[in-house]
Amino acid sequence: MKILVTGGAGFIGSHLCDRLLNEGHTVVCLDYLSDYYDPKIKIMNVFHNFNHPNFIFLVKNVMEKDKLEKIFQKYPIDVVIHLAARAGVRASLEEPLQFRDTNVVGTINLLELSKIFKVKHFIFGSSSSVYGDNKKVPFTEDDLVDWPISPYATSKRACELYCYNYHYICGLNTTILRFFNVFGPRNRPDMAHFTFTQAIDKGLPIKKFGDGSSSRDYTFIEDIIEGIVKTLKKPLGFEIINLGNSHPITLNTMIATLEKALGKKAVIQETPLQLGDVEKTYADISKAKKILGWEPKTSYEDGVKKLVAWYKTAHSS
Ligand SMILES: NC(=O)c1ccc[n+]([C@@H]2O[C@H](COP(=O)([O-])OP(=O)(O)OC[C@H]3O[C@@H](n4cnc5c(N)ncnc54)[C@H](O)[C@@H]3O)[C@@H](O)[C@H]2O)c1
Repeated sequence: MKILVTGGAGFIGSHLCDRLLNEGHTVVCLDYLSDYYDPKIKIMNVFHNFNHPNFIFLVKNVMEKDKLEKIFQKYPIDVVIHLAARAGVRASLEEPLQFRDTNVVGTINLLELSKIFKVKHFIFGSSSSVYGDNKKVPFTEDDLVDWPISPYATSKRACELYCYNYHYICGLNTTILRFFNVFGPRNRPDMAHFTFTQAIDKGLPIKKFGDGSSSRDYTFIEDIIEGIVKTLKKPLGFEIINLGNSHPITLNTMIATLEKALGKKAVIQETPLQLGDVEKTYADISKAKKILGWEPKTSYEDGVKKLVAWYKTAHSS
């Protein structure tokens, strides 16, 4: 298949491109190389594929519909996997308009072109953040998600609703995957797994928000990629599916696991909880098991060992 991966040079996107190429697909990797974090990191994420005959790399902005249209004209796209986004809960409190523009406008542009060019399957990378501060755990796909608590979460929920519009209007096969707190090699550098690993390794202080009892359903990158690939094979009309580990880890356990893997103690700076941060994420993954035959295979400890091994190769001085 010819697959358009937007945000293909990012953390999740670059792993996905590798896997799709390995499976024999042609990958049109589109990425604006935004400066939310160092664009050089994104180039490094995909550099090894530049000479691959089935890899097409395009530096383009999902907000520029005219330019996107030329891509759809040139390459007959079978499947769109839309991962390009402005990510990050805390940053969205500072720049809400940028999150609306990139995430919502970019998604509408791609949905519109998918409609016009009769794409067979549109897969959207959503987020557990749409569940807001849901008190009912684990989070299931039919929980009410009307109370997002950050502009990032709101933008992702808006995209989900647009996805449904396009499925309803033109029968576009659309699958929304709600990713839960992804971590692993090539980790996004603004996320706690990276910043904590780096700080502990260098003996610098880490900010521990709250008392350490908040928890996240950390999901290893290879498991997420497996879930996306299984989804690719199942254009099922319209579905929303959680991809999470279904095993929340407290902040205290996360720090202890990183300390163990790095063989160093963290220097902890106690910091109040941040606005926009939820108390817990916890995926019910029974739908993913039933529909996709998917479940995560990597334990949290093994995932952290792989993250640290990658970090030591890529970053240690
Ligand atoms: N990492 C996680 O834990 C997580 C959790 C839930 C959802 N998600 C979602 O998964 C997707 C990928 O996340 P990630 O962690 O790999 O983030 P990332 O920032 O590493 O990747 C996103 C990529 O999108 C690109 N991009 C940004 N704006 C663009 C634009 N206007 N046009 C084209 N490209 C643009 C960026 O350059 C970047 O390479 C995002 O949609 C994110 O919201 C991630």
